[in-house]
Amino acid sequence: LYIGVDLGTSAVKLLLMDGDGKIHKIVSKEYPLYFPHAGWSEQKPEDWFTQAMEGIKELVSECDRSQVAGISFGGQMHGLVALDKEDRVIRPAILWNDGRTGAETDYLNQEIGKDKLSRYTANIAFAGFTAPKLLWMKKHEPQNFDRISKIMLPKDYLAYCLSGSFCTDVSDASGMLLMDVKNRRWSEEMLKICGITKEQLPKLYESYEVVGVLKPEVARKLGLSAKVKVIAGAGDNAAAAVGTGTVGDGMCNISLGTSGTIFISSKSFGVDENNALHSFAHADGHYHLMGCMLSAASCNKWWSEEILKTKDFGAEQAKIAKLGENQVFYLPYLMGERSPHNNPDARAMFIGMSMDTAREDMTQAVLEGVTFGLRDSLEVAKSLGLQIERTKICGGGAKSSLWKKILANIMNLKVDVIESEEGPALGGAMLAAVGCKEYPDVETIAGKVVKVVDTVEPEPELVAKYEERYQKFKKIYPAVKELF
Ligand code: XUL
Repeated sequence: LYIGVDLGTSAVKLLLMDGDGKIHKIVSKEYPLYFPHAGWSEQKPEDWFTQAMEGIKELVSECDRSQVAGISFGGQMHGLVALDKEDRVIRPAILWNDGRTGAETDYLNQEIGKDKLSRYTANIAFAGFTAPKLLWMKKHEPQNFDRISKIMLPKDYLAYCLSGSFCTDVSDASGMLLMDVKNRRWSEEMLKICGITKEQLPKLYESYEVVGVLKPEVARKLGLSAKVKVIAGAGDNAAAAVGTGTVGDGMCNISLGTSGTIFISSKSFGVDENNALHSFAHADGHYHLMGCMLSAASCNKWWSEEILKTKDFGAEQAKIAKLGENQVFYLPYLMGERSPHNNPDARAMFIGMSMDTAREDMTQAVLEGVTFGLRDSLEVAKSLGLQIERTKICGGGAKSSLWKKILANIMNLKVDVIESEEGPALGGAMLAAVGCKEYPDVETIAGKVVKVVDTVEPEPELVAKYEERYQKFKKIYPAVKELF
């Protein structure tokens, strides 16, 4: 048996899978997210570990625990976790959707220069990436910065607490802006720019490599053997790609989670010359390109829970009847935007209401606005000559058949629905199975375990209507960006 841990932004999800890829149980444990200032986003690493431990206990409570062989992760990316020399967490983790580093991002992109950054790392700076957060800490919290003994990413904190191994993997480390992605090693130049040393950084592994075994006291608490292997794991998007079989060359996965991502796997290294898409290492040993929007299913959650005051997304969506004909637009930039605008100060807006606009038109606009935002990244990928005709899908938003239909038609892609939409947790368990040598490599297990159960086809008439709407959507951000 293998445990996959999806360390998300709203909760940690744990999944128990057997060697044939059958899912036996899924457990989820929530923790708080803090917004101490507008645009800031933090969590306590201690909460992640406490809840992950509770979750694992519950996950294995009914199985033969002696059969658990390995555990691995898909983790929210880019978060800065800093420990002092006594292994104490120095300050709350600064998350992937935190926008405080506008000045540091500008410094990196403009003064160090995008060309250099791209040469050193294959990427430019975005506010959520880890390197600008280090620069922010150095400037605004110098006492904290001076205490840093270990720098790690969110899921690496779990691996460290579970196994004592100070490690990360190449897919997640790609998002730190500290790694030379092409050569899968730390960039000396970037370390110098950020004022840190290699000793402060974790050892780099491939996602399917074993980093250690459970610490005896942890194993005892969980009722598991101290021989259980801990496998490096991946950033949640790369793990989700594994979980949806998006491995090898030219495959696409869209994740509608708190963030929204479009992920294109590739056997060879490549960079989008405008760096609008991230060029990262993949968990299958190769590479990928990715566009990331900061608020995807979270727009729907915010709109339904905070504004409409309902958690019944299904009932809200059931009233939507006029696909392709909605006159209301929604810009999905609740937390600023990463791809393709790279503007932490952008904000959301509705536009185009009239006296006959109904509540369901606004709900529809939210789902469409997020999807138009993802289409922006698809357009960048297409402009690079990538041929994309179909995509897999995962994340909370993938549960909505209406949203999948909107997606197929706005993107003009065939949407392949996988038996399980638990992308990162399943991918984590699959990486554990590869690490434990149940399968020789990631592509083999993906071929064996991932099953497409349905395909949502785009409908030409609806595609044409949405094309017209998208051409208008594209004009909104440039027209309003001066306001932010
Ligand atoms: C990817 C990104 C998000 C987080 C969400 O670059 O920032 O998708 O990984 O957990």
